[in-house]
Amino acid sequence: MKLQTATVIAGSEISAGDGLSGAMRCVIVLPDGTRRAAILKRGPVGEIAAEAFAALVLSAWGLPVPEPFLVDETTGPAFASSDVGYPNLKKRLALDSLPNGPAKDAATRIAVQLAIQLPTTPLAAVVDEAIDNRDRNLGNILWDGQAEAWIDHALALGEHPIDYPDRNKLCDMAQMVGDHDRVSRAAVGQALAVGSAPLVSASDAMPANLRHKDYAAYVAARLSNLAIRLLDRFPKPADLLTNANQQP
Ligand SMILES: Nc1ncnc2c1ncn2[C@@H]1O[C@H](COP(=O)(O)OP(=O)(O)O)[C@@H](O)[C@H]1O
Ligand SMILES: [Mg+2]
Repeated sequence: MKLQTATVIAGSEISAGDGLSGAMRCVIVLPDGTRRAAILKRGPVGEIAAEAFAALVLSAWGLPVPEPFLVDETTGPAFASSDVGYPNLKKRLALDSLPNGPAKDAATRIAVQLAIQLPTTPLAAVVDEAIDNRDRNLGNILWDGQAEAWIDHALALGEHPIDYPDRNKLCDMAQMVGDHDRVSRAAVGQALAVGSAPLVSASDAMPANLRHKDYAAYVAARLSNLAIRLLDRFPKPADLLTNANQQP
């Protein structure tokens, strides 16, 4: 996957209607003149760089992500991704329209079950662990009933606020619906197949104004013990057999 620089057609922006960063739905023009529906995100340069670097690395690792683009604006670089045309899991199950209570809890559980059963979920859990993505909520998983796409890596690669809890939310979700055995086994298997070569090509593809941090080194350090890191996100057999105050 390449990282092309696109331009936004003036006046084409409307709110994407979800997320906290003010993402905008718009039309972009690619260097070859073709037009694309896209989602545009502005923000701190670190978040833009993290989005671009993550999209390149994740697609090389085999995770379905929308095609990424950079947009040069007078205020600085922005990130755009090709609009896949289907909603996130939170929207698909209309979770935001339900009042807090048992109906919302039940719908959330169904959304989590759907998220955990996607074919690429174990790989996504691995990848989130590798890039330190602590923000894989149901709003950041797009699903059309068949295909899934993984989005929003703005806070990965160390770009999270300093007090942001260190969690792998897919591992938490797997545990929530009692599917952690299968997901942990599959994830550990996939962890062995996630190599460092894409880190070099992604770094090379980044423009100079987005190379303020060595993301390749950040991820490489996490790859060296990735399987163990993942296993630590799941309950150990001993945890399930002992009380908190007992030694295994
Ligand atoms: N490539 C895309 N295709 C379709 N919808 C998208 C895409 N990228 C983002 N969205 C939509 O925009 C919302 C906000 O984008 P996101 O990257 O999650 O930004 P935020 O940082 O504000 O959470 C997502 O929840 C999703 O509904
Ligand atoms: Mg989001």
